[in-house]
Amino acid sequence: MREIEERKSVRRYSAEAIEKTKLDAILGSARLAPSGHNKQPWHFIVVADAGKREEIAMASNQQRWMASAPVHIVCVADIRARTQNAEPMYVDEESPSFELKRVIRDTAIAMSHILLEARHQGLDTCWVSWYDQKEFRPLLGIPEDKFVVGVITLGYADEAPAPKPRKRMEEILHYERW
Ligand SMILES: Cc1cc2nc3c(=O)[nH]c(=O)nc-3n(C[C@H](O)[C@H](O)[C@H](O)COP(=O)(O)O)c2cc1C
Repeated sequence: MREIEERKSVRRYSAEAIEKTKLDAILGSARLAPSGHNKQPWHFIVVADAGKREEIAMASNQQRWMASAPVHIVCVADIRARTQNAEPMYVDEESPSFELKRVIRDTAIAMSHILLEARHQGLDTCWVSWYDQKEFRPLLGIPEDKFVVGVITLGYADEAPAPKPRKRMEEILHYERW
């Protein structure tokens, strides 16, 4: 797919607004992602408010460039999709729970859809996961039993970054067995 080859992380965006139809297509692509047992354990918070985007950038280890993107899509994994446990629950980076790993895995798949559909719509993105759960969640009222898998910055690029190197196929590919 052309979009897979073209996608690069963009860290400077123009102020140009994102068309509603394009944003809807991008969010719709996340909804269609596969997930273990079809649990669909994801939630997405679309943040366009400039002040909030600034706060998100500051909470993400002061990656100020993030605020230049007109939209942030905050992608949240919901462990409740995989647990019957009615007890109060807290998840963070230290949580050993296998179910947490599963909901993070599934949400990451949906996030990949967003990155590629964004490129298909002529938009660019960067996945950001450099923040602490406990610091990030209160910004957007996210409950403590949810895990913020990443923020996707979204907008029209105002830079053309060079492609980042990748490992050679021989380094990563095995046939039949390890
Ligand atoms: C899980 C994850 C976390 C990332 N966190 C950040 C981040 O906090 N800040 C940032 O500038 N880029 C972040 N990135 C982007 C990577 O640096 C980038 O994807 C990688 O260097 C390859 O470059 P490319 O996306 O242009 O191909 C993250 C990417 C992933 C998948």
